[in-house]
Amino acid sequence: MDKLGGVCLNRGCIPSKALIASAEQYRRMKRAADFGINLASPPVYDWAAMKARKDKIVGTLVGGIGQLFKSHGVDYFPGYGRISGQNSVVVTDENDSETRLKADNIIIGTGSRSANIPAFPVDSQRILNSDHLLELANLPGSILIIGAGVIGCEWACMLSLLDVQVTVVEMLDNALPMEDPDTSRLMERELKKLKVQLHTKTMVESIEPGGEGVTAKLSSGRTVSANQVLVAVGRAFNTENLGLEEIGVTLDKNGSIKTTDDMRTNVKNVFAIGDVRGQVLLAYTAVHDGAVAVDNALGGNATRNYLGVPSVIFTHPEVASVGMREAEAAEKHEMAVGRFPLRALGKAHAENEIAGEVKVIGDKKTDRVLGVHIVGAHATEIIHTAALAINQGLTVTQLGSLIFGHPVISESIMEAAHDLHRMSVHLAKKK
Ligand code: NAI
Repeated sequence: MDKLGGVCLNRGCIPSKALIASAEQYRRMKRAADFGINLASPPVYDWAAMKARKDKIVGTLVGGIGQLFKSHGVDYFPGYGRISGQNSVVVTDENDSETRLKADNIIIGTGSRSANIPAFPVDSQRILNSDHLLELANLPGSILIIGAGVIGCEWACMLSLLDVQVTVVEMLDNALPMEDPDTSRLMERELKKLKVQLHTKTMVESIEPGGEGVTAKLSSGRTVSANQVLVAVGRAFNTENLGLEEIGVTLDKNGSIKTTDDMRTNVKNVFAIGDVRGQVLLAYTAVHDGAVAVDNALGGNATRNYLGVPSVIFTHPEVASVGMREAEAAEKHEMAVGRFPLRALGKAHAENEIAGEVKVIGDKKTDRVLGVHIVGAHATEIIHTAALAINQGLTVTQLGSLIFGHPVISESIMEAAHDLHRMSVHLAKKK
């Protein structure tokens, strides 16, 4: 049984971003002299205080959901729910007392949890998942992270900003392998600047107690010693013990619930939304799924529309993208690419954040924006201009025709759009 707000609020998006904000603040304070500020002594961070701040934020927001439920007339039954028929759910509370609920429609939004590597099961002491990291009493001096996906890279950046020595092992060719290869290349460069040791195309073959805590043998033949290990290799779906088999809900091989784009399962009046569908594992698409399911449960005819949904990754620097990666665009379209490095931007210099670039991919024939990929400060905020362009089917010319405020980081989107037509006056002329 969980608190209101699920993974996003209790163990995911919000607590991790609260800690990342603390780590970023510490980084800025360490660089105070670059901004003309002399600190009397070097900044020292207090992990316990950072965690207390995170817990306070989470507590406030969890309480807020309770208030919203009351205000909107939502009845809340804390407990473990199990479907006991097509129109009934049994809720067992913490005192083992049962309440039977009847409903015309049932919406399943049970989410996901960290996946395990069977050979190295998490033990919450030496081998951890991201839930454990959020609650650590003390940060380790060194950590080995398995997986350079979203969670692996976000934690690698945050922990290295907090002076933890980080090693990352990724079985695929690059860090953030799901992103555009240029994004991965830039991220790998930034990880190097943060002194993160990254081993790509590598598997962990064994983890034994020893050295600084554990010693891991890698498929490359190297060994890595670290105090602790973080396993960040994806998610497993919470579909066990929900009564799904009994009412005949079809699951996919990976354990997620099979659904159509209108959030219906194969069983009439039973819907599923969010991570448990096993498609897009994001809190913000889950909210959209929920609206679609409710609409249809009430007799509507809604389907999901993920057009222009951005990916936002809270690494240092941030990463954000929307639409097609270059390989997909090249396969389906005659395409052109425009780029703008942040070091060519006045605001980036004013903020001392010149790492990264914006890459715009467009269709040469129709001029449609196909994809936008950003690495750099505030990427997760500024991506939404590009997301709207893709959602609304705008052209690269239209994206670049807006007069952006100045000086702002998002001007880099306008400049990259201009560069696609070789019209950026703030870049040296290209032949
Ligand atoms: P992920 O799918 O993003 O990355 C897992 C990585 O681990 C992949 O690169 C994969 O190749 C690698 N991997 C898998 N098995 C491995 C092995 N045995 N050895 C080495 N590498 C291995 O999954 P992650 O990072 O656990 O995140 C889970 C989900 O949560 C994702 O779907 C992500 O989108 C979501 N999430 C989103 C955030 C955001 O939107 N900012 C933040 C955190 C999570």
